[in-house]
Amino acid sequence: MTNYIKWTDDLSVGVEALDDDHKTLISILNSYIEAVEDDEGVLVYDSIFTSFMDVAKAHFQREEELMEASGFEDYELHKEGHVSLATQLQEMRSKLMTSTEDSMQEDVRDFLVNWLEIHIMVKDQAYRETVTAYLDSK
Ligand SMILES: [Fe+2]
Repeated sequence: MTNYIKWTDDLSVGVEALDDDHKTLISILNSYIEAVEDDEGVLVYDSIFTSFMDVAKAHFQREEELMEASGFEDYELHKEGHVSLATQLQEMRSKLMTSTEDSMQEDVRDFLVNWLEIHIMVKDQAYRETVTAYLDSK
């Protein structure tokens, strides 16, 4: 039994639109966890996974615009992390669709949970101060 991810206020990055994206990603990921628990099958996993990718893509764009506009010093590095994740997601999606191993959907789940926790709890907290100061000054 895998734990679902819960949103709590200490996960906030101080920007409502970005918090909303993170909440949506958490919610999609929880749907994926539930689908795996219920052994729904690859077509369901793929449909949820595709929504996750779409929301993540739009979210990264929003983050990148704000990081760049605010002059966040690690903008390039953070952006590279987004590109590399997008590539990993593409690879995972093909594995998910073609793998004959039963554990594949669980590997994908564990990867996404781990990634999302680090993304929200660590990586995105780094731009919080710069981006919120920028938005407050507008
Ligand atoms: Fe984020």
